[in-house]
Amino acid sequence: MRKNFGKKTWLYPMPVLIIATYDKNGEVDVMNAAWGGIYDTNQIMICLDHSHKTTDNIKDVQAFSVSIGDKYNVDKCDYVGIISLKKDKDKIKKSGFTFEKSGFVNAPITKELKMTLECKLNKFNEDGIVVGDIVNVSIDDSVLTNDKLDLNKLAPITFDPINNKYVVIGENVGNAFKDGMKLK
Ligand SMILES: Cc1cc2nc3c(=O)[nH]c(=O)nc-3n(C[C@H](O)[C@H](O)[C@H](O)COP(=O)(O)O)c2cc1C
Repeated sequence: MRKNFGKKTWLYPMPVLIIATYDKNGEVDVMNAAWGGIYDTNQIMICLDHSHKTTDNIKDVQAFSVSIGDKYNVDKCDYVGIISLKKDKDKIKKSGFTFEKSGFVNAPITKELKMTLECKLNKFNEDGIVVGDIVNVSIDDSVLTNDKLDLNKLAPITFDPINNKYVVIGENVGNAFKDGMKLK
């Protein structure tokens, strides 16, 4: 027996993408987005509302970075999704996030978050969705084991849209492209 919930914007997992940008004058903004994912090979898409400062910045500067929200920075990640720089000029200071410039694109990297996709704007597609070319992925040494990403060290979070929670990702329950072979 299934219960029907009707038309909803519900999907699991939804990411916690922390988008950092510069404006025309080099001032940083950062925001949280859950409506996003891989678009095509080496490309990312994010559904961004036109009202955000971040959207203006991406249009103006044509670049952005996307860092993965993690369990160590939940309050900061949520805060930058609640407050717009258009409404509070102290948003960045209050967020507690700090930044350094990407060596690949004209966008800031959020230093506290350990994995970052550095992107150039490819296009705003016909529905106003931002498509970015992933120029580089950088990962802090501290979350690597034998030079590979260690998910338990990164502790990425996912957004639960039904319960309005952030949930940590980490348990390994199988091997991709392998476990299914047993059923062949
Ligand atoms: C969990 C969460 C997910 C969000 N996802 C999106 C999203 O996918 N797209 C979007 O346009 N805004 C999203 N927002 C809202 C923006 O992050 C928010 O409006 C932010 O204040 C915009 O900041 P800015 O105007 O400084 O760019 C989300 C907020 C939260 C808390």
